[in-house]
Amino acid sequence: MPLARFGVSLEKDLLEALDEFVIENNMPNRSQAIRHLVEKNLVEKKWNCNQIVAGAVVILYDHHKGDVTTKSNDIQHEYFDVILSTMHFHLSHDSCLEIVAVKGQANRLTELSDKLIGIKGIIHGKLVMSRAE
Ligand code: NI
Repeated sequence: MPLARFGVSLEKDLLEALDEFVIENNMPNRSQAIRHLVEKNLVEKKWNCNQIVAGAVVILYDHHKGDVTTKSNDIQHEYFDVILSTMHFHLSHDSCLEIVAVKGQANRLTELSDKLIGIKGIIHGKLVMSRAE
């Protein structure tokens, strides 16, 4: 696709944050960073619709801290209609990795993901989705 150029005015601290983002993500320049951020935003907007998508929620947690296992289980029962399968891996004595495969309306999956990732004690969580129809 042909490229279009445009000028951007930013507050100094925002520009510094953008430059940090470029460095942290090994991007070649600011254009690449802006492209990435816009695309990310577009994808997330699509997630907020009723399109049928499929993907996975990945969460990592320490099962000794808080009550993550029980809470995750409760939430998953609330969303049983969109959950295809859940895999639980005991990574070490403390760490658990859970992969929840999902298919359903994007907004419902986003809701499920937000609830799971929002559980107190989750070390890392991410939702990956792709169009399923
Ligand atoms: Ni475990």
